Amino acid sequence: MTATTAKPTGPIPAAFAETMGDLRIAGRRAGDWAEAGTPVFVYDPAIVAGQAARFRAAFPGIDLHYAIKANPLPEWLAAIAPMMDGLDVASAGELARALAVKPAAAISFAGPGKRDDELAAAIAAGVTLNLESEGEADRALAIADRQGVTPRLAVRVNPDIELRGSGMRMGGRPSPFGIDAVRVPALVRRLVAAGADWRGFHVYAGSQALSADAVAETQAATVALAARLAEDAGAAPPLVNLGGGFGVPYFAGDGALDGDTVGARLAETLAARPAILADSRFAIELGRWLVAEAGVYLARVVDRKESGGETFLILDGGLHHQLAASGNFGTVVRRNYPLAVAHRMGAVAEEVVSVVGPLCTPLDRLGDRVALPRTAVGDLIVLFLAGAYGATASPASFLGHPPAREVVAR
Ligand SMILES: Cc1ncc(COP(=O)(O)O)c(C=O)c1O
Repeated sequence: MTATTAKPTGPIPAAFAETMGDLRIAGRRAGDWAEAGTPVFVYDPAIVAGQAARFRAAFPGIDLHYAIKANPLPEWLAAIAPMMDGLDVASAGELARALAVKPAAAISFAGPGKRDDELAAAIAAGVTLNLESEGEADRALAIADRQGVTPRLAVRVNPDIELRGSGMRMGGRPSPFGIDAVRVPALVRRLVAAGADWRGFHVYAGSQALSADAVAETQAATVALAARLAEDAGAAPPLVNLGGGFGVPYFAGDGALDGDTVGARLAETLAARPAILADSRFAIELGRWLVAEAGVYLARVVDRKESGGETFLILDGGLHHQLAASGNFGTVVRRNYPLAVAHRMGAVAEEVVSVVGPLCTPLDRLGDRVALPRTAVGDLIVLFLAGAYGATASPASFLGHPPAREVVAR
């Protein structure tokens, strides 16, 4: 080891953690997946199937929705949509991809600032709109009237609760998302009076929470809030979308969310729910928890250089494909994602290196002073947790490098 002190990396996901030697993804060596060119994302649907099975066991009777913003690659959606009860979309672009793999009745569309053409496409298809403002409700009703159809409308509530400890809080404060809870009953009454097919509530309080206690508390508060709003509105919601926020361990010291505990606590909450919710269905909408661990990003070492006593490995991939791992997507303090040398999994660390991308910005750092086995030009580096908010959430056209390949394992 050099004198430079290593910084920790996050935990390697369970599906890969025990591997020694060659990393295998869906049974094939990483080097095989990389043969047609790097950088490449490889996604394994079997890992999502495992997560979905864990969800089914912990949350019997609760609908599982996939928030496709986490990874909307069409081939990927085709592979995993059958494992889901519903898909949640955030734009007309995502809507078109969701409609290719799921019936409209199983799709909901949330997001502020929906344009008229987006509302029209969703209403014509028969998708549920999670309304984000009274203005949006007016436009949706007018568009449905012009189309001569009954729109499926739910109300997204800006809850007076927040998800404790979440990486991204989206409730409990003034917000562009949803309608302040206090104004929701009046809007529901108006939608019902206008003859809309009122579908219920959507409440989203935050993302990336690892505390079972915090998630369970938020879900209980959400159920209580939905009951209170329904009573005030005088209408029982067919569906209460409880949001999600299930996090994944990205960084050293993070522990996995205990989904079994959350499920048991939700079952208790629902067993004691107010009468107005007796016939409601409940859904949980998840992105990263379902798909983050299912994806890896493989990039090759193009150059190795020393500067000021430190060693840099320069890859053919960087933040233009995997922004989140550089610490510039939704994190305040930069920490290292789990990464490894793909053909030397489990090998003893021999040196401390910084793993950087080819972009002309110091932000393009995928591993800051990480301890790795000795690497050479041409070696393959693997970044884990690349299945969510990877290619889709990165500035791919920045500096004109080619996009990463994205491959779904079969
Ligand atoms: C409304 C909504 N649903 C779902 C998600 C997915 O979050 P995650 O990938 O953390 O589960 C988000 C994330 O921002 C969101 O805003």
